[in-house]
Order: sequence, then C-alpha cells, then structure tokens
Amino acid sequence: MTTPDVTGRGLGLMNIPGAEEVMPPAATASPAQPTPSPPVATPAASALPQLKTPGFSPEAARQDFPILHRTVNGHPLIWLDNGATTQKPRQVIEALGAYYSAANSNIHRGAHTMAREATEMYEAGRAAVAEFLGAGSPDDIVFVRGTTEAINLVAQSWGRANLGPGDDILVPVLEHHSDIVPWQLIAKETRARVVPIPLTADGAIDQDAYADLLSYRTRLVAISHASNVLGTVPPVKEMTALAHRYDAKVLVDGAQAVAHFPVDVQDLDADFYAFSGHKLFAPTGIGALYAKPEILQAMNPWQGGGNMIDSVGFTETTFAPVPHRLEAGTGHISGVVGLLAALNWFTSFDRDAVAAYETALMTYAQQALATVPGMDVIGSAPDRIAVLTFTLAGHDPATIADWLDRDGIAVRAGHHCAQPALAHYGLESAARASLALYNTSEEVDQLVASLRRLQETDQETN
Ligand code: ALA
Repeated sequence: MTTPDVTGRGLGLMNIPGAEEVMPPAATASPAQPTPSPPVATPAASALPQLKTPGFSPEAARQDFPILHRTVNGHPLIWLDNGATTQKPRQVIEALGAYYSAANSNIHRGAHTMAREATEMYEAGRAAVAEFLGAGSPDDIVFVRGTTEAINLVAQSWGRANLGPGDDILVPVLEHHSDIVPWQLIAKETRARVVPIPLTADGAIDQDAYADLLSYRTRLVAISHASNVLGTVPPVKEMTALAHRYDAKVLVDGAQAVAHFPVDVQDLDADFYAFSGHKLFAPTGIGALYAKPEILQAMNPWQGGGNMIDSVGFTETTFAPVPHRLEAGTGHISGVVGLLAALNWFTSFDRDAVAAYETALMTYAQQALATVPGMDVIGSAPDRIAVLTFTLAGHDPATIADWLDRDGIAVRAGHHCAQPALAHYGLESAARASLALYNTSEEVDQLVASLRRLQETDQETN
C-alpha cells in the first residue's frame, strides 16, 4: 500500500483576514490603519554586535513561513508571541491542504484503502513523536488536544487511582495554571494536598525548599521544563532523581520547552511528559502525552467512547490496550498529519545549534531591553529560554501591547495563565516577548526602538 504524499505542494493561501497583506510583492496598508511609525534603531541596540551562531541561520527558517511576510498595521509582522503559539511553516500548511485534498478518512474502523492510509499516517505521527521525545516505543505516546488535556488526563486517570488523603502533589510556584488547577481538582476529590514549591528571587525553583518538601507522602511532582512567564529551565533531571528516591512520580510539562531545546524523556527519567503541537510549529488541537510503559499500561480510561474499547456489552465492557484505551473518539487526524510535518521540518535543523542561537538572541534581547528607560524584566534564573516578561514604568501591559501592535509587533500582555509566578514579583500583569528560532536581532532592535519611542512620547506629553 502506498500512503499518499500529504506534502501538498502548490496550495495557495486561503482567503483569510490579513492574507491580502502577505508579501511579496506588494504590501499595502489599509487606509483605516493607524499611521505607521518609521522603524528606528536605538543607538544602544544598534551598537550591539549582530548575531552569528555557527550551524544555524534564522533566515533559513524564516523563508518557510508565509505569515512572517505579511504586514500588520503597515509594518512587517514581528511575531514575538511564540510562548502563546508558534507560526506554521509552509510544509505544515501544505500537508494539511494535501491531507484534506487527497487523503481524508477516519482511522482504524474503516475497512477501505483510505482508512488504512489515514491509519498509517496517524501511527507514523505517533512514531515520530516517540522518536522526537526519545521514548522507547510509539505505544508510550497518547495523542491529546494539548498539554492541558494531557495533564488533566494524568490527573483524572493516574491521579484518581493513585492519590489519597494526606498525599502531596508538589508544584513549583512558576507553573502555568494548567499544571496547577488539574491537581487542585483531583486533590479536592481525593483529599490529597497541592503543595507549592517556592521560588528564589531570580525565578528559579528553590532547590533547598524542594528537598525539604519531599517526603514519603509525596506522590507526584509536576514541573514545567521551561516556564512560560519567567523562562526558567529547572534542573528537571536532578529534581526527578530526587523525587524517585521517595517513590514519587514526576510529570514534566514540556509545552514551552520542546521548540527550544532537545528533550530525551528516558534520559530525564520522567514518568510523564506532555507537550502541545501548536507551540512546536504544528496545528492547534493536537498534542502528546508520554508515559513510562508500566505506568501507562496500568492507567484506567478517563473518557469512554469509540476507539478505546475491546468489546462492549451491557453486562461487561472491556478496553483496548494503551495508548488507544486513553484516546476515546475520533482523533485529530489532520492535526497529527500537521504535527508529523512540523516534526519533519523542525528536526531537519541542528537542534543544538538552534538552542545556541536562541540563547544568544536572548542575551542580545536582555542587553537591548536594558537600554529602555523604566524597563524591568522579571526572571533571571541561570538557565532560561528566550522569554522576556517585563513591565515598563508609567504604562500598563495592555497599553504596551497595543502600542507595539501599531508597529506590527505582537507580544502578549496579562497574567499569562501564571498568576502565582507574577505574584512572586508583586505583579498581576506584565508584557511578554517570547522568541523562537525565526526571530532575529533586527526584530529585537525594532521592539526596543518602539518601546523607547513609547517612553519618549510619554515624556513629551507630560
Ligand atoms: N500557555 C500559553 C502562553 O503562555 C497560552 O501564552
């Protein structure tokens, strides 16, 4: 059997808002848009050496992203909201088009050629995820909607079976709400406790406090591999080894990590690892949960329906083996096709070189942002991804995001679904620039120039 090629060559951009702004050749600003301010490099930022790191050039990545050639409010788009979602390379866009043009079918249950082809693609996606994460087998991978669903799955299936009164779930204060609230929900039902692990002043996890909190009551430690708001990359491998001394399991939230540095779940010895495709250049609505095989095999269904059963009767129903037992209903087949295309695209780069480039870009951005009057970047842990969350004296974060948007620069403002992490700095809200492999030092210069203009405009009006 030949599985159809879903690379989808030659598909055009769909008629979506903003698509008419895609360049080249002619980008035109709509008359209703605010007057664009001219791009200005700050003296301090332009004095910084431009980035060159061996083995990776962002230009090579950029050329694959049609959206990075559109304009927003009359300016070339500068996408600095990668922590929220990454843009999609044409390989992913074309794979989705080709799938729906030539290969759409449900999987598993059809006894026809296209069902078999769709099943092959779906399982090829599972194998690719396993390889990407360093898992031992594709059977260790459960497809989910995203990291949030993966964590809820673990809480509802593993948690319900393994947590009880007096048990502790340790959760660092820097976690995203999706790695706090699912534990609170199951803890309430099982009368377990969610115990925060405090942070140090620089936004790292306080390792002494962690060691003190661990005990034989600890059933689970749930940690992000990279913080979405502070950028902190905790020593997950060491924290996992310590947790295992107490027979506690460790869940790692890899949502913000997988697009930035290589991950090997077996090297980490993680019991669970979760990520979302859309933060990894793939479509929304698809993600994956890895679990160690012996843990996964013991997990009960958390949702019932088609695809997850062996046989159904009114006296007895039996369930399929994992991972299918945990995947009720029709999966996000095109999402898996897109995820497979994204993984193929992303792993074509030298991952260590990408990580080195992003670290250099982060250092560049930290130095450049420090030249903006009134700038305060929060989070300065020694190991970090390129997430720069900041406040600017005299401006609330929503105003900052709105100002930058007028210059075509997309950043996120708000609580970033990490209210306890912001509260650690006495904040309720902040602006955040989160970088990816396709961002450049020139884009950072534009961010800094725009923020400096905001401060200068403010001084002129006061
Ligand atoms: N978790 C995503 C973010 O941090 C949505 O922006």
